Amino acid sequence: MRKSATGQSHAKIIFFGEHSVVYGQPAICLPISKIKTIVSIKGADTGQHVASKYFTGALSEMPDSQTGIQLLINTILVELHQEKTPFTLQVTSEIPAERGMGSSAATAIAIVRAFFHFFHQSLSHAELLRLADVSEQYIHGNPSGLDAATVSSKTPIWFVKGRRPQAIPIKQNAFLVIVDTGIMGQTGLAVQHVKSKLAGDHHAEEDIEMLGKIAKQARSCLANGDSQKLGFLMNDSQTILSKLGVSHPILDQFATLALKNGALGAKLTGGGMGGCLITLTSSKPSAKQIATILEQHGAIHTWIEPLATGYHKGEKNDHS
Ligand code: MEV
Repeated sequence: MRKSATGQSHAKIIFFGEHSVVYGQPAICLPISKIKTIVSIKGADTGQHVASKYFTGALSEMPDSQTGIQLLINTILVELHQEKTPFTLQVTSEIPAERGMGSSAATAIAIVRAFFHFFHQSLSHAELLRLADVSEQYIHGNPSGLDAATVSSKTPIWFVKGRRPQAIPIKQNAFLVIVDTGIMGQTGLAVQHVKSKLAGDHHAEEDIEMLGKIAKQARSCLANGDSQKLGFLMNDSQTILSKLGVSHPILDQFATLALKNGALGAKLTGGGMGGCLITLTSSKPSAKQIATILEQHGAIHTWIEPLATGYHKGEKNDHS
């Protein structure tokens, strides 16, 4: 056992394929490595303590809202035969909660990495995702696994549920603006909503298939640098997601505003019903201008991400 150890992860955005990924369609996701979650663990004389912006106190006394994390920590301790080891665990995260940016998955991934480091254990990527799924299952019901795969990846990924994620190349001289509406997203509710739509409306099935087709076309655009078409595909996705009932009036309003001000495309990202919008621009000045306009209209935070640096040719996707 070390005296102290840390584990890291980062935010993610879903570029294409939220919701349809739950039904076996492909998705494209980008790691946002500059927005980090860090978990540090220190050895202690007595007790097992957890500290985060949501709760500080004994592991055994975590509130209901933190049950997923409590379950994850207990599972790790049991699997590593360390149930009685005293420690203090601190979670520090820059990822806003419940905005579709992978905050719960990032916390889970950083916790698993920190414990394995603390107890000198090697950790395969499959094991990392399996353990992160303990809290993700509890928090989100039946997640596709996309969030945990992306917040633990160094490269953009092509994700199909149940398969190993593939790193994908992005040749794109364009910028994304991530826009936090400040409204809590509702992933669980949105996933349930799509499920009931699929049960009662046969058009919903076509919509899900169309989102999958769009993701496939977007993959080609990302490889050949066709930003204009990528923008159209984002708009098409937003129209379908809106039809499925997982957008929000503010997301629709921000998307319209971004397009009016020169964006190539705009769509919600993540579960929706609030949370974040992503918008594609052809240059950094245009990205800055759109970010400023959306902030003037109530966005509480914006981040600008160059698309091209998301993947370096030859870089290994070193997951664990
Ligand atoms: C949530 O970030 C993405 C969804 O597709 C749900 C999932 O993949 O589990 C809405």
